[in-house]
Amino acid sequence: MGLGHFITLEGGEGTGKSTQIHHLLERLADAGIDAVRTREPGGSKGAERIRSLILEAGHSRFDPLTETLLFYAARNDHLEHVIRPALNAGKWVICDRFSDSTRVYQGGIGALQYSVLDQLDALVVHDTQPDLTLILDLPAEIGLARANARRGNSAADGFEAESIDFHRALRQAYLELARLNPNRCVVIDADGSVEEIAERIWRKVSERLLIVNSVQSNG
Ligand SMILES: Nc1ncnc2c1ncn2[C@@H]1O[C@H](COP(=O)(O)OP(=O)(O)OP(=O)(O)O)[C@@H](O)[C@H]1O
Ligand SMILES: [Mg+2]
Repeated sequence: MGLGHFITLEGGEGTGKSTQIHHLLERLADAGIDAVRTREPGGSKGAERIRSLILEAGHSRFDPLTETLLFYAARNDHLEHVIRPALNAGKWVICDRFSDSTRVYQGGIGALQYSVLDQLDALVVHDTQPDLTLILDLPAEIGLARANARRGNSAADGFEAESIDFHRALRQAYLELARLNPNRCVVIDADGSVEEIAERIWRKVSERLLIVNSVQSNG
């Protein structure tokens, strides 16, 4: 593998993942780093088709295991066609949601056991684990308000149409995930201006990945 790095952004609805990915890509470009922006579910042709299946189901969602298998089927296609080729070409990959979303939504606050998710992850993701996962952390009320403001009057999808308790549980599940994976995960305080949060993220990415990168390329 080249010097590419795999970064994922995680967090509940409206925490600013998509907004911040845009800023991170700009800073990476300024640093002369070629990065691929992608997202889950989806990110490749086949995976986007599976994404449509999952989101179309709306309120009549698939049963938990079927839904999770669809997420992992999409992830497998995404890894094969987009993520691994980019990393192998030495590019950085910045992904809006990844396995941790499945872990938190289908495991932590969902019906599936972590052991089932661990098996699927070992099979599909295998050693293409993220180098760094940025978990955007925001009080549930603020995230929900942001998501609602952005959505305007259009209907919420199956995952957003949940109560404040759901969003609180989601936040706790993400914090627990970070606690269990301190080497990979960094919690980012996502309350503040877009620029402030972009700065917090850039500091962490620089600390964790850029310094290592320059040592590698000098050595
Ligand atoms: N720091 C911020 N302060 C205020 N509003 C913000 C901030 N960051 C993003 N927003 C706004 O909040 C809304 C949600 O942001 P964004 O779409 O980036 O979140 P997200 O985490 O990608 O959400 P989702 O999980 O639903 O895709 C958008 O309307 C965005 O413009
Ligand atoms: Mg988004």
